[in-house]
Amino acid sequence: MSSAVRFHDQHAGAAGLSFRDDVIAGLSLERKRLSPKYFYDRRGSLLFEAICRQPEYYLTRTEEGILAAAAEEIASLVGPESLLVELGSGASRKVRLLLEAMRPSRYLGVDISRDFLLQSTRRLAADYPWLEVHAAWADFSERLRVPAGVEGRRAVAFFPGSSIGNFAPAEAEAFLARLRQALPPGSGVLIGVDLVKDRRVLEAAYNDAAGVTAAFNLNLLERMRRELGASVEPGNFRHRAFFDAAASRIEMHLVSQCPQTLVVDEHRFAFARGETLHTENSCKYSREGFQALAGRAGYRSSAVWSDAEELFSVHYLSSD
Ligand code: AVI
Repeated sequence: MSSAVRFHDQHAGAAGLSFRDDVIAGLSLERKRLSPKYFYDRRGSLLFEAICRQPEYYLTRTEEGILAAAAEEIASLVGPESLLVELGSGASRKVRLLLEAMRPSRYLGVDISRDFLLQSTRRLAADYPWLEVHAAWADFSERLRVPAGVEGRRAVAFFPGSSIGNFAPAEAEAFLARLRQALPPGSGVLIGVDLVKDRRVLEAAYNDAAGVTAAFNLNLLERMRRELGASVEPGNFRHRAFFDAAASRIEMHLVSQCPQTLVVDEHRFAFARGETLHTENSCKYSREGFQALAGRAGYRSSAVWSDAEELFSVHYLSSD
């Protein structure tokens, strides 16, 4: 790797093993499910980038518009010379909208997809030579730690994309509380949160006409084949995404199109026709609903921005 990026391996180690364990545990449940964190192998990360460019997936371009418009205001809330920690940094695109205004002294990108993380942080280091760039390969949903020597005068965690919505509300609250403990006192959180809206707009975003979200969902089965040697026919499953208004979330499933058996080593998982593997929840909040959740996690809401159509929100949360 380029000497410009300092790499920190915080991954649990046997990544393949935990994927296998979680697949076996999740497929053994009466209602089969798997954590959405397993979407993000290299192919899944690329497919996710492609989702973000789909016309129906309003989240990315709307959040980018909000960040670009509010960059100066955000910078004055954070203050200069901070440590900017980006959680689930992926392609590290959105952070570019903030860097010139914010002028942090250090950037730490944290992501579960190692190659993707390295590639994007290297590009960032090349494009912003004044910035000290660190990359931590970690599953931050499980454990969050700022590597020794990467502390800043103050820190701000940047968690864009409404990834917080992929946790259930109680998990989101616990995650934010852990984040508060992991960062120095007085740190802030800049977080993107998708807003509740018309069902048709929400469902279209997760059922793009080009079929990219379907490919992203089905890639989980292909990943099982590639990494675990699973015997499974992805063509026998179909992508399904719908809005559950009572739970205020989009649910994504893989629906079995026929009776079939998925095999991993000596484990056999029977699927009936129509039975699903639940792969993701994407919770949607009102402004006030998210502020209340953040309050329960020990934060004060210092600012909220949104677009004119109220599709998406960006919150700045402070802790004392
Ligand atoms: C990463 N996360 C916020 C995305 C979402 O909208 O829940 C993942 C995604 N799933 C389907 N499309 C995008």
